[in-house]
Amino acid sequence: MFQGIIFDLDGVICSTDEYHYLAWKALADRLGIPFDRQRNNLLRGVSRMESLSIILEKSTVTYTDEEKAAFAEEKNSLYRELLGRMSPSDLSEEVKTTLDAIRKTGLKMAIGSSSRNTPYILSRIGLDRYFDAVADGNCITHSKPHPEVFLKAAEMIRLAPSVCLVVEDAHAGVEAAIAGGFRCAAMGDARDDPRAAFHMNRFSDLLTFIS
Ligand code: BG6
Ligand code: MG
Repeated sequence: MFQGIIFDLDGVICSTDEYHYLAWKALADRLGIPFDRQRNNLLRGVSRMESLSIILEKSTVTYTDEEKAAFAEEKNSLYRELLGRMSPSDLSEEVKTTLDAIRKTGLKMAIGSSSRNTPYILSRIGLDRYFDAVADGNCITHSKPHPEVFLKAAEMIRLAPSVCLVVEDAHAGVEAAIAGGFRCAAMGDARDDPRAAFHMNRFSDLLTFIS
């Protein structure tokens, strides 16, 4: 049914979505801006600067572009400090076993993430040489819900979107997949998104969709 599978990274392969939250929360608290886990869900899949704009919607102060750039940098340096504490043991046994089982089926495997920290994260968890292709925030001009990153990943593994499955935890990511002509398996925050073809309770459910 599928010849390739494109994985989102944060919140799908690893729990770095929690670190994004903690780093944005620290910034929001310092600036006195209300921010919680529910609001954090709006940031899933969207770029760093778009995430900041969503957070600043609740601010009573208007900031200059220079201040915004400094805020994004502040968040990213705290985020990278958290990422620096990760190791291959932060890759769950279930994810690793499932990825290895998918690998054995011969499907091409790629990453499609909005994050510019993708190479760093993959190296922290020991997957820097695992995937056939990595499309990330460093090689796109439009982040999700635009389909660019998934189209780029499909191009890199030389497959048409119609034969690739995208795995996502963000509504913006599901939207991006559908806009690009992919079918999507949704998990986590996006699990019940009606646009997804498959709804995952656990990562290993993927094995039933692709067989
Ligand atoms: C996505 C996350 O993977 O990457 C978003 O879901 C994040 O929450 C985006 O904003 C950009 O990440 P980074 O690492 O480039 O700041
Ligand atoms: Mg995600």
